[in-house]
Amino acid sequence: MKRILGLIGMLAVSLASNASAVNKLVDEPDSVYLFSYASNNPTHGLQFAWSSNKQNWFPVGNGQSFLKSDFGPWGSQKKMYSPYLVYGQDEMWHCIWSLNNTDKVFAHAASPNLVDWNRQSYPEPKLGSNVLRPGVKYDKSQGNYIITYTDSQGKFFATTTRDFKNYSATKEIPASQYISSATVILPSGETSGQIQRVAWATADRLIKSCELKQYKNAQREETTSQDAQRFAGLKPVDATFTVQADKAKPISNMLMGIFFEDINYAADGGLYAELIQNRDFEYNLHDKRGRDKTWNSTHSWLLKGENTSFTIDSVSPIHANNLHYAVLDTKTSGASLVNAGFDGIPVKKGEKYNFSVFAKGLSAQSGKLKVRLVSKSGDVLAETALTVAPGAWKTLKATLTANATVKDAQLELQPLTAGRLAVDMISLFPQNTYKARKNGMRADLAQTVADLRPRFVRFPGGCASHGDGLGNIYHWKNTIGPLEARKPQRNLWNYHQSAGLGYFEYFQFCEDIGAAPLPVVAAGVPCQNSGDGGNGQQGGIPMDQMDEYVQDVLDLVEWANGDVNTKWGKLRAQAGHPKPFNLKYVGVGNEDLITDVFEERFTMIFNAVKKKYPEITVIGTVGPFFEGSDYREGWDIASKLGVPMVDEHYYEKAGWFINNQDFYDKYDRSKPKVYLGEYAATMPRGGANYETALSEAIYLTSLERNADVVSMSSYAPLLAKEGHTQWNPDMIYFNNTEVKPTVAYQVQKLYGQNSGDQYLPAIANLSNNQDAVKKRVAISVVRDSQTKDLIVKLVNLLPVAVNSTTDLKNITLAGTKGVKSLMQGNPADKNIVPVVTEIPVSEKLAMELLPYSFTVLRVKTK
Ligand code: AHR
Repeated sequence: MKRILGLIGMLAVSLASNASAVNKLVDEPDSVYLFSYASNNPTHGLQFAWSSNKQNWFPVGNGQSFLKSDFGPWGSQKKMYSPYLVYGQDEMWHCIWSLNNTDKVFAHAASPNLVDWNRQSYPEPKLGSNVLRPGVKYDKSQGNYIITYTDSQGKFFATTTRDFKNYSATKEIPASQYISSATVILPSGETSGQIQRVAWATADRLIKSCELKQYKNAQREETTSQDAQRFAGLKPVDATFTVQADKAKPISNMLMGIFFEDINYAADGGLYAELIQNRDFEYNLHDKRGRDKTWNSTHSWLLKGENTSFTIDSVSPIHANNLHYAVLDTKTSGASLVNAGFDGIPVKKGEKYNFSVFAKGLSAQSGKLKVRLVSKSGDVLAETALTVAPGAWKTLKATLTANATVKDAQLELQPLTAGRLAVDMISLFPQNTYKARKNGMRADLAQTVADLRPRFVRFPGGCASHGDGLGNIYHWKNTIGPLEARKPQRNLWNYHQSAGLGYFEYFQFCEDIGAAPLPVVAAGVPCQNSGDGGNGQQGGIPMDQMDEYVQDVLDLVEWANGDVNTKWGKLRAQAGHPKPFNLKYVGVGNEDLITDVFEERFTMIFNAVKKKYPEITVIGTVGPFFEGSDYREGWDIASKLGVPMVDEHYYEKAGWFINNQDFYDKYDRSKPKVYLGEYAATMPRGGANYETALSEAIYLTSLERNADVVSMSSYAPLLAKEGHTQWNPDMIYFNNTEVKPTVAYQVQKLYGQNSGDQYLPAIANLSNNQDAVKKRVAISVVRDSQTKDLIVKLVNLLPVAVNSTTDLKNITLAGTKGVKSLMQGNPADKNIVPVVTEIPVSEKLAMELLPYSFTVLRVKTK
């Protein structure tokens, strides 16, 4: 351990100073040869080996990758072939590499030290069938870099650049001018790459960065299963916490919120209470990118019986956004069109369901249509009959009351008259939605979400906001207005988004649960992992369409907040909400790859919103991790532009959360505020349990401590339907009839229901000073200025009890009792819930914190 700490110290010195300032050890060379090469696994990226004699090569960090390609989607792309490294005139290292066999692009990234790499770019030199084995050298005579490459047809090409941003027109060149690599024998065999002579400090920095990485990785892997060994012989710990009421500081009262994304069937088939699947016949092969041949307009529908045909037509649709509808041609009545719902249709005895359908007769005479809810065993649960008149589309409505409780009923539409009729937008909605909203939310799920007491809701994603390719960007305007005119689309998580849960419903839901809306719009670029429809993140909305896109973002603010006389405010009013929604936050971008393409578009959007709506807090994006080039560059852009807040994301192992509680203690308070928009602790092999929840609870004490800079946070993802999950862990699992909040939910709920707007620092004194012990005991004290309640949160992640005394001097208690919520149990458990009791309280508050426990104490003060 000492050595590691020493290494960290040395690394800090070597990173902060130039090579000559580093104290040299006796046996260190002045300079060495550094060999750069590609890993055998192309997704693993750039590696290094060093040698003092060009004979014996030592791979740095045992194959550690220093730069990975970020081009294209995970799985099929993100590959680096033939990296070529050169030290530039600008004292930066420049690396170029080829990406695949098909795209006519190569990649470039630069670094000041070979450890930290700046944003990537993907120049397109145009000539050749593809770009293979690029090479680069500086041409002193011309003052520019020459880049050469070959292609699959064996031709050679060259382009030049001064800045790796602008490139000259590409020319075909003779083979003799092609810049080729060197070959060396590494322990793993013959490898091609480049050899450079570098100061030892350069190689040493690479080596030390690997050691630091290993140290941090080991911290990440810490689990309670090692506790018997890690804490062998550990005795119960005494702890005193002295609360410093006089040092109270204001903190954000928006810290605890939620992140809703339509992932894991969270919307259709989930929170959105519609019971009919594919009600609009708009399911499309493309929703699943052609991988499921049954995923088409007829999905979830079945014709049962004979003498009737069921076809899909698009000749005269209800609306251009809703092209497909069903045509039933009946010779003799008896057959039914059956919808299976989302894993069946759950109905409850005595409850009422609103049925509606757009229908039109295609024959001369009116026809009758029987509508029934039927159990799997054929019992009729509810029934009605409607008349379908010839002519234009008409909406027909009926109320069905279920005569029994059934988990998996089906809806049947049975034409009773011979002839042709067309049906579309076939809907069955429980009347019992959350707050009885029409087109509203599933009551039990919504209540579970509301119980978190979220201060805000971020929506509609995540990746779903910026979409899989340009054509899949989520456009809020497509999701408002009459349901039949909304534009359904492919959900990037590989299913269908009906847009029934659209922006109006999101905003309405926020209002219903007392949370601020936080819509996230794409920053003019789709998801960096886009695999659908071409060049993904490396593209971006064409500049000649950006003004229109920026206007869409401005229109969103007008739609939410504008007067009823404004163009967009009027639409909101027509939808049933004349009062403004009081939108205060708009997220722009989600985990985007920070490229020039991104920066240009983000800046346009940010500046436009800032100019027209300076009162709106724009939340920028700083990549998917807590470190790396997107994080650094995202922060740089935000600081440069004065973006008020940035959205950080990290999904990490429990050990990371325990070992990084000082993450925000180090943040510069003069820079943008932080929204920790997505985080969750996972086990080494994925999943979550009480251990991960406790690590979140302990980390949340550090978020409260830093809630002067961390203004908002949301665990992610929120919802997951059993049998349809694309992501694990999630906060709340559910099926059609049950809601199953996880232990992570319990922690979030305790924080959400017990947050404050003032933080009172506490000095901790432990009888055991081991670092591992200190990191596992944490306190956070906040006060809610409205209720005057003082809330003390105590986490004990040790396998032994902590006998705690919390000194509340200078705080005047209003009574002698407090409410204690306690979670305690085995770290591997998944079903621990808080137990709430009343306990006596006094200025010197003594509490035994049980092993592996989370305690929240709420007391009244004067
Ligand atoms: O929360 C699931 C996904 O994780 C989000 O869509 C994305 O932002 C992140 O990568």
